[in-house]
Amino acid sequence: MTYTRRQRSSLLYQIQYAIRNPDRIRPYVSRYARDLVLRASAPDHVAYYREVMRSDVTEKSPFKAVGSPTEESWLRNGLLQFEYLLSHGLQPRHRVLEIGCGNLRAGWRIIEHLDAGNYYGLDISPDILLAANDTVVRYELQDKLPNLHLVRDLTFGWLPDDHFDVVHAHSVFSHTPLEIVEECFAHVGRILRPDGFFDFTFDRTELAEHQVLREDFYYRTETLVDLAAKHGLEARFMYDWEKNPHKQSKIRITVR
Ligand SMILES: C[S@@+](CC[C@H](N)C(=O)[O-])C[C@H]1O[C@@H](n2cnc3c(N)ncnc32)[C@H](O)[C@@H]1O
Repeated sequence: MTYTRRQRSSLLYQIQYAIRNPDRIRPYVSRYARDLVLRASAPDHVAYYREVMRSDVTEKSPFKAVGSPTEESWLRNGLLQFEYLLSHGLQPRHRVLEIGCGNLRAGWRIIEHLDAGNYYGLDISPDILLAANDTVVRYELQDKLPNLHLVRDLTFGWLPDDHFDVVHAHSVFSHTPLEIVEECFAHVGRILRPDGFFDFTFDRTELAEHQVLREDFYYRTETLVDLAAKHGLEARFMYDWEKNPHKQSKIRITVR
């Protein structure tokens, strides 16, 4: 079901939701309290979300910080992402950039599959990148020389033109305001090879676009397709992803 802002923010909806999901009340209240503090202290969204990740990694776990309640679900989610890329032709010789790589839920499988040096992962969170280093060690991927980078924006200034066959962002734009999505669209075409593609997932709504506590953002497909076109990019809704047991939708971007 697609939730609208009206439904989520109406008192009646929230009371009904709380009655149906009493176990969600405490986590929501603690997210709400964190939002109040961060809203007053964080200068921008990246600083805000970096702090969200810091508290989730240190107070919960790296698995939970990227949205997987257990290690088993972390493994399942990563496999889903990886198998989709494989079914769309990912080869060991390809160069892959993962935006918002987290603790390498899919990344470790991609690194294992690619030739050494062909994986680049970036993230705004130092805490989750430290957990990514641990994942490299856990899966003994040192010889694959994965490149993991801390960033403060999505302008990719340190990366070369026409370089990546695949750019991948899973469950990142679901936590990103539209101006940062646009920043990414404005620059991703430069680093993509002419025959490359950029796949990202997003929380899709067919009604009013909205955000919840600055952590979860819901967009209409047309908004993202039109924004991509503004930057000379072709955007295609990936219907074959919809059959997966994952609640987000996927769009593929190519350079026109
Ligand atoms: C839900 S986690 C998903 C991580 C990984 N893609 C996965 O599937 O496991 C979202 C990740 O995106 C990162 N992130 C959020 N906003 C970002 C941004 N503007 N630029 C780069 N990374 C970002 C977060 O720090 C976090 O690691």
